[in-house]
Amino acid sequence: MDVIITDESSIGDLVADDIAALLQQKPHAVLGLATGSSPLRIYDSVATRVARGELSLAQARGFTLDEYVGLPDGHPSQYRTVIDNDFVSRVDFAPGAVRAPRGNAADLGQACHDYEAAIRAAGGIDLQILGIGTDGHIAFNEPGSSLASRTRVKTLAEQTRRDNARFFDGDVAAVPIHCLTQGLGTIMEARHIVLVGTGLGKAEAIHQLVEGPVSALWPATVLQHHPHVTVLVDDAAASRLQLADYFRYTYAHRYLVQ
Ligand code: F6R
Repeated sequence: MDVIITDESSIGDLVADDIAALLQQKPHAVLGLATGSSPLRIYDSVATRVARGELSLAQARGFTLDEYVGLPDGHPSQYRTVIDNDFVSRVDFAPGAVRAPRGNAADLGQACHDYEAAIRAAGGIDLQILGIGTDGHIAFNEPGSSLASRTRVKTLAEQTRRDNARFFDGDVAAVPIHCLTQGLGTIMEARHIVLVGTGLGKAEAIHQLVEGPVSALWPATVLQHHPHVTVLVDDAAASRLQLADYFRYTYAHRYLVQ
């Protein structure tokens, strides 16, 4: 696991550099797209490069991580709408190239099965962008999730519903109780995982993710078993890391391929 402690404003460009390098080598790469606040600077940086003609996602595909159950299409807080507004509409993906779990399907179990099949048919995810919840969730795999879980219906923790009320005009009661989410086992199949965490509120979750025992109590800790994870955090989110000095040292002395 590579841990990069840097200022929040650099994170977007650093991850966009990784995406650009991937697309140069593999124009039809498959990106895993998180919603929420954490990836916004990444999406801004990628959109700027596309607008300047430096980068194209015309052959790429994308899969979002999760979706609320029961929100109608076009609802401003539906993750499908959010990713369209925050990213897809600002870049040059081909129509239909970005998929999201169907949280308003009549048969949610079938929707989960279809989503797993679509990811497999696309050849798997090359680069997965993740945020992290204050309770250590990734996607919507709340504490107690099976470390081998697949895409399924989950019940959101009350903490997550409180955290996400800001996307529902501050009304916790308006945040759906259920969601569809890629499982931890699904996420672990991505070839490269890039997790972004900023702010003091994420400090404990980042400490557990990087330094805690692997446990369903902190679902993100499963990433310790993945061979290629990059964690990007600001000073506040890194403030509980016991190895912070070592991570700063390793990044300052990183080996650059000539
Ligand atoms: C969103 C997602 C969630 C968020 C997490 C952090 O698709 O899967 O796990 O990444 O809740 O949210 P933010 O980035 O808004 O703090």
